[in-house]
Amino acid sequence: MDSAPGSGSPHFHLRGGELCCEGVALPSLVEQFGSPLYVYSAATVRERVARLRAAFGERAHLCYAVKANPNLHLLRLLHDLGCGFDLVSGGELERLRAASLPTARSVFAGVGKEPWEIDAAVAAGILFFNVESPHELPLLAAAGARGGRAVQVALRLNPDVDAGTHAYISTGKDENKFGVAIDRAGAIVDAIVADPWLELVGYHVHLGSQLQTAAPYAAALARVTAFVDQDPRRAEGVRYYDLGGGFGIGYGRGEELDVEAVAQAVQPQLAARGWTPVIEPGRYLLGDAGILVTTVLGEKAQGKARFLLVDAAMNDLLRPALYQAEHPIVAVAPRADADEVEVDVVGPVCETSDFLGRGRRLPRCRAGDLLAVLAAGAYGASMASNYNTRRRPAEVLVDGDQVRRIRRRETFAQLFENEVEA
Ligand SMILES: Cc1ncc(COP(=O)(O)O)c(C=O)c1O
Repeated sequence: MDSAPGSGSPHFHLRGGELCCEGVALPSLVEQFGSPLYVYSAATVRERVARLRAAFGERAHLCYAVKANPNLHLLRLLHDLGCGFDLVSGGELERLRAASLPTARSVFAGVGKEPWEIDAAVAAGILFFNVESPHELPLLAAAGARGGRAVQVALRLNPDVDAGTHAYISTGKDENKFGVAIDRAGAIVDAIVADPWLELVGYHVHLGSQLQTAAPYAAALARVTAFVDQDPRRAEGVRYYDLGGGFGIGYGRGEELDVEAVAQAVQPQLAARGWTPVIEPGRYLLGDAGILVTTVLGEKAQGKARFLLVDAAMNDLLRPALYQAEHPIVAVAPRADADEVEVDVVGPVCETSDFLGRGRRLPRCRAGDLLAVLAAGAYGASMASNYNTRRRPAEVLVDGDQVRRIRRRETFAQLFENEVEA
């Protein structure tokens, strides 16, 4: 059984000349559910959760970052594996409700929380809020007073640490909008401590996404502990350290982040202080667990480029256009006799930035052939849009030989329904 090169998961593998997800061949899924199609492997998600548990220990609190892929069925799978949730909007909280999942093990971050979101999350009894801005404090305190119970908060610090990642997904530098700069944080801790309706239970950092080394996590913790140690009130009642998400995956090029190294870099200090680690991975759990299958429409040569036109586009997978992200792309059923050609894999959307991959060496394809864009399970379907009035792809979850459609392809009527006069 050969693993698909670059997939990052042994559960996407070649069998009988066809790419399979676990026990199911991808062409059969496209026949049943159409193209383009997101396909997820449940086994991969299970293995990733187990790896994080082994690294961080049973006491660690694992909160899946819902934004990475908010599909209700995937949320249920992650809940069944013992995860709580990292929320960044009232809408994500509504998703937990829609999936009939408990909210008590969720944390809520977000640089611009709205009053209704704060009220809804307080009413839902989430574990704690990650406070990022002073404007939240009176809103949180008022919600606590109304409910007759102090609201638990962790302060999101911006430690000004360079995570060494793409500028658009870096969040822990002082020029980023996220968190509270350490030199301003003392006054906010004082305000929290002074308010009877707020309880300081922890500190939070999230440095960015797709981190490749443990060093930024260690540097951030060092800055947080230096801040806390300046004043005993900053440590009083504190029991959580939320080190954020950002655990990088390979995308067919590099090694994924060594999560054991991250755990080893922070655990001794957290244990010495009696702080429970909270982690908020999104990409690490779902990225390698999903692929986007697309169908070749045709080919055309223009100038020096050779374009392979496919039926998936930037509206289905925005990451290449948004961050110049590179996803491995492979043929689903590579023909042994096909020579390799260098192509730009592009979609039908009317934007030059609409590409899935540029300068890729792929076996020469014919119309109707299938390609798989790998490592697309995180920030793929969740960032998809209806641009060019395109229906977002269907999504299926494979578990061994079992296949479950977890999202239907949209109908055109659904796209227009809010525009039609009542
Ligand atoms: C506060 C917070 N936590 C966790 C995450 C998840 O990041 P990743 O998917 O890289 O693990 C994000 C992503 O933007 C975030 O903003």
